[in-house]
Amino acid sequence: MTTSITLPSACDFHVHLRQGDMMRMVTPKVEEGGVSLAYIMPNLQPPIKNTEQALAYKSELEALAPNVTFLMTLYLSPELTVEEVRKASQAGIAGVKSYPRGVTTNSDNGIENYEIYYPIFQAMEEEGLVLNLHGEIPSDAQKDICVMNAEEKFLPQLEKIATAFPNLKIVLEHATSQAAVEMVKRLGDNVGCSITVHHLQLIVDDWAGQAHHFCKPVAKFPHDRDALRDVVKAGHPRFFLGTDSAPHPIATKEGPRSNAGVFTTPLVLPYLAKIFEEIDALDKLEDFACHFGKKFYGLSQKPGFVDKKVTLVKESNVAVPQHYEISATNADLGVVVPFYANRDIGWKIVSNFV
Ligand code: DOR
Ligand code: ZN
Repeated sequence: MTTSITLPSACDFHVHLRQGDMMRMVTPKVEEGGVSLAYIMPNLQPPIKNTEQALAYKSELEALAPNVTFLMTLYLSPELTVEEVRKASQAGIAGVKSYPRGVTTNSDNGIENYEIYYPIFQAMEEEGLVLNLHGEIPSDAQKDICVMNAEEKFLPQLEKIATAFPNLKIVLEHATSQAAVEMVKRLGDNVGCSITVHHLQLIVDDWAGQAHHFCKPVAKFPHDRDALRDVVKAGHPRFFLGTDSAPHPIATKEGPRSNAGVFTTPLVLPYLAKIFEEIDALDKLEDFACHFGKKFYGLSQKPGFVDKKVTLVKESNVAVPQHYEISATNADLGVVVPFYANRDIGWKIVSNFV
């Protein structure tokens, strides 16, 4: 039985670090979770739509977590121009995130039609920027589209864009379905796929009636979760970690309508060790969490940082905290409840970034 794992610090290719007090609480927790490279989502209020905003945001994050490499993205919207794409590329911005309109948190500025963005995609292809796709289409009762099939119904769009731009790197974010796994496998080497911690663990029964497991896209059928588990177990190199960790104050999770998002940042590697152990795939954890994503993106980390190691040990009674206070000085801001709060996850980090 494996009781200790040492691996390089991990890369999280999809994370929400927010702004203001929430950002100040969450950002230092990236490192606590064993992660040293974080790919940052732009759905702030207002969204990060240009290079200047992305660089200013990056400086704030770096001040809060100097050991972490932050890779920044822009929010795809009609305001994004070809010139801005070129400028972003020059400034080291890594990608552009597309949200379909209205499907999730802060997606009111999201897009409705991908073809109008083809000139942008072409410039991104030329400049080597990555297209990060939230792969769902909006629900439409008339067309029998709801959260359970919204991802599958999006897949033809993915195929269309990937075929039209064979040299554009595209990531289907937070895949949840067997159909998505099969599509990404079938498409070429320009298409990768991020997989979250929580989607390796949850199915629909776990979020129906449990607000803290509600996220977008929602967790689906058992056979869908099996497909995600199987593809990471197979060590497919185009499937890699992107947690989509998305903190929300408890009041907006447990309120009349729950915000979408699961918070995993403080314990990313312990959660993964538990899940990979359960699916008998601990030998695949390092590639999934540390190498495949960087390889797909063709990225390197801050010099001198690549060799940092994290050691986890298996232990009984490793309880996930009940919650994290958003501000140490202002209790009114409330708390964030992490994934698997109060549960024993059986693994803990004993040395980090050594
Ligand atoms: O569950 C989610 N939460 N999915 C998203 O796409 C957005 C995220 C958030 O920002 O809260
Ligand atoms: Zn996200």
